[in-house]
Formats: sequence, structure tokens, C-alpha cells
Amino acid sequence: MALAATFLSGAKSRLLPASVPFRYFGAALAFHLLAWLLVLLGAPQLTGFAGGLGAPLGALHAITLGVLLMTAMGASLQLLPVATRQSVGSPRAAAALWWVMAPGSALVVAGMAHAWPGVLAIGAALVLPALLGFTLLLARNLQGARGMPVVVAHGWAALVCLGVLLASAGSLVATWMGWTAAPRAAALGWHVAFAAYGVMGLLIMGFSHILVPMFALSDAPAVRPSLRWLAVACAALAAAAAAALSSAPWGAVFGCAAAVGGLVALAGHVLQMRQAMRTGMRRDLGPSFRWVHAGWALLAASLLAALVLQSGLVTWPRLAPLFGVLLVCGLLSVLMGILARILPFLASMHAPPGRRGPPMPSTLTADRPLAWHHRAHGTAVALLILAVVLDSAWLARAAGAAGVVSAVAMLLYFRFAWKRMHAPPAAPAAEPARAAPVRFVASPKSAAADPRPPASGSQPTSSEDPAEHPAATQAGVSSGQGSSHANRAAPDGDAPTAPPPGSPGNGLR
Ligand code: HEM
Repeated sequence: MALAATFLSGAKSRLLPASVPFRYFGAALAFHLLAWLLVLLGAPQLTGFAGGLGAPLGALHAITLGVLLMTAMGASLQLLPVATRQSVGSPRAAAALWWVMAPGSALVVAGMAHAWPGVLAIGAALVLPALLGFTLLLARNLQGARGMPVVVAHGWAALVCLGVLLASAGSLVATWMGWTAAPRAAALGWHVAFAAYGVMGLLIMGFSHILVPMFALSDAPAVRPSLRWLAVACAALAAAAAAALSSAPWGAVFGCAAAVGGLVALAGHVLQMRQAMRTGMRRDLGPSFRWVHAGWALLAASLLAALVLQSGLVTWPRLAPLFGVLLVCGLLSVLMGILARILPFLASMHAPPGRRGPPMPSTLTADRPLAWHHRAHGTAVALLILAVVLDSAWLARAAGAAGVVSAVAMLLYFRFAWKRMHAPPAAPAAEPARAAPVRFVASPKSAAADPRPPASGSQPTSSEDPAEHPAATQAGVSSGQGSSHANRAAPDGDAPTAPPPGSPGNGLR
């Protein structure tokens, strides 16, 4: 609870304009759709994928570059300045990076999917400098950080990994252009370990230290154990780097050590997060967080698959593609779960405040598209894993089709939050209507309200104490994703924020 209050206090003044993070999240969701379309169209190649250019590598990078990195960039540009208590250098630079990153990523994906090395190289010439710019922006911010040492330490470690990602990606692209570069096997080993587990894994671990306690209304996890798990993760990455450079038997020894270290670090992190959820005032973080849990399980499964692969004890040909699918679906599930939570939260921070402050995040949550996304995402991930295990192109096609449904649902969810964020606050309702939510006052535990964004400057500030705040208490009755209709009717004791005419949420509901 303390963390949520600390994090939110003054957060508004350090927020970037809404258009900056939202352009990254919007692009991420568009690339999400592209990725599943590529799975659908490239299904026959996907199940037997053993590296090289083609639709599977295009789909993989539509997810890794387009969805994961794009979301990570939007989230870090927004959250890190709040965590480090200083603004990001220049909002213009943060916005400009997107204009290089988004088309560059599209070219990389097109070059990979169609096996056009020239287009891949042009895309890389845009993406790699954009990522370098992002690295510098973050490094500058971390340098003057005041507070949240765990988040800052994870940020630095992720930036080092980002450096390795840039070098290995540049080398791999150069190899496809026929230029002299580092040996492909070594570059690929570094690339997979540092891009997926390093950059993405460490950023997710670091930001979870802000987001999970904030949503669960719990204290932040203790600093020392958090830094210990970070150190284990870094040692595992160092072992993975050594494995990529060594030949047998040392390659296998380092590889197994890396997988075991990764498993230990992940287990330590997950236990800390579960402890935060157990001790928080809000126990049920809603269906989106079930995807975060599923993502953790898939990531653990990917590390187990890596352990078996590295040990050389099993020579099952499906194991390598299975490792890739578990890894990518794990990262995707965690990020989609978190994105579904932070989109309405950020939208409410940026929305024009009503009489009693900003609207509750639950009023900016479109339940039906979200429910569609959860169902379709689960189906797509399960079918994709089965498709790889059974080597079935038809199952891969079905996975692609389910994935397309999940991606369209997330785009509708995004549109709903975006439109509501721009809707003008409704005029205050008549007195009797405002009194209605008092009926919902529940036990203080149901402070389980969405963490309410800080009211801005001149607006009257509503109480953060749910016991004193009927609307917050009422929101606590909902599932955690704002599915309560009562909640929707009068989100904060004011009249509801008026939906824009023809908003998708209404139509879909
Ligand atoms: C978070 C970011 C990234 C992740 C998680 C990631 C992940 C991966 C993975 C898992 C592979 C191995 C595919 C296989 O099994 O063969 C791969 C290959 C590759 N990646 Fe990335 N990648 C990322 C970013 C990038 C970037 C920014 C570029 C360049 C612009 C890039 C270029 C390549 C190339 C060219 C290959 C093909 C290697 C080959 O088969 O020769 N990647 N990536």
C-alpha cells in the first residue's frame, strides 16, 4: 500500500503526454495481429522451423520486436521517470524514437518473412539506432535515479543486455548480407539469451516490483532478496554467454548452469511476487493477471526445455522448436496480462478529471473484448504448443486463427480505453444519483479498488482511503478488471464519465 502511495504521489507531473506511451502500445497491438496472421499464413513452415529467414522468423520478430520491445519501450518511458523521480530527457525524443522504431520493425519483419535480406538490412538500419537511442535515454534517466533501487538495478542490467542484443542482432543481419561478422552460432546463442531472458526478462522482473505491489495494494518486496535474484539471473546470463562461446563438453556444462540459474532466479522472483499478492489488500488481480501467472509457468517450462536441450540427453527433434514456442508464448502472456492492466490505468491518469478526480481505471476497461482476448489467447497458445509437439500444420493454422481473434479483441480493448480517455468528463449528476454508491460500502479489505490515479492540481482530491471513499470501496467489489456494472454506473461518486458516441465497449457489451 505504501508503495502505491509513494509511486503515485507526484506521478502525474512526471508523466509523458498520453500520446507517447499509447503510440507504443497501439503499435505493439498492431504487430500482435501481424504476428498471428503470419502464424496463420506460414503454418506449414512453422512446425518444422529450424532457423533461417521465412514466415516463422517474421512471426517471431513481429512478437519480439513489434510486441515485446515496443511495449517495453512504452512502459519504461512512462514508468521509469516516475520510479526514478526525474523526467525522461525529452518527450519529443521519446516520441521521435517511435517514428523510427515502428517502420523499422515492419521492414525487419517483412524482410524476414519474405526472405529479403536487403529489406531486413534496411529495417535493421532503422531499428538498431532507435534501440540505441532508447538505451541512451534510459541510461540518462537511470544515472540520476533517486529511489526504487531494485527497479534501477534491473534497469541497468537490462540496458547491458540491450547492448548485447544490438551487437548480436547487427552481426546476424550482417551474416545474411554476406558480410563478415561474428560466427553465426555464437551470435545466435548470445542473441536468444540476452534478448529474450536478458532484456525482456529483466525489464519484466524490474517493473513487476512497481506494478504488482501497486495493483495488489501491498508493500514492495524486500530489497535484498530482490537484488539476490537479480544477481542469480545475471550469473545465468553470463553462463549462457560462455556456453555460446565454448565447445563440448564445456558448452553443455555452461548451458545447463545457465538454465538452472534462470530457473532459480525465476522461482525466486515469482515467489516474491506471489507474496506481494498474498499480503496485499487486493488478492484477486483479475483474469489478466492469470495470464501473468501462465506466462511465468511457460517461461519456467522454456528453461526446463533449455536444460534438457543443453544436457544433450534427449535428441527429440521437436524439442528445439518447442523451447522457442514456450519462451515466446511465455513472454507474450506476461506482457499481455500486464498491458491489459496498465492500459486503463494509464488512460485514467491522463483522462480529464471529474469533480472528484480522475475516473476509475475500471470505467476505462472494456470487459467483453478482454474476455474474448483471454479465451482466444489461451486457445492460440495451447494449439501452438500442440502443433509443434505433434508437427501438425493444421493445428498451427488453428492457432493462428485463434491468435487473430485475440489480437483483434485487444485492439478493440485499446480503442475503448483511448476513446474514453479523450471523452470529456460528464457534468455532475443530481445529488440523489451521487449518493447511490454508498450502498456498496464494504469491509476495508475491499479497498481492493484499482489504485486510483492522483487527482491533478486544482481538482478537489478525493480520499485514497477506501473506507472513506465509497467509490473506491465499491470498485473493490469488482473482479479486478472492473467487471462490476454497478461500478461502471458511477465510478467515483460522480456521474460516470460519458462514453463517446458509438464507443466500441457499448456496442460489444
Ligand atoms: C527482444 C528482442 C529480440 C528477441 C527476443 C529476438 C529473438 C530471436 C530468436 C529467439 C531468434 C532465433 C530464431 C531461430 O531459432 O533461429 C532470433 C533470430 C534472429 N534475430 Fe532476433 N530477437 C530480437 C530482436 C532482434 C533484432 C532487433 C534484430 C535485428 C534488427 C534481430 C535479428 C535476428 C536475425 C537476423 C535472426 C536470424 C538468425 C539466423 O537464423 O541466422 N532480432 N531472434
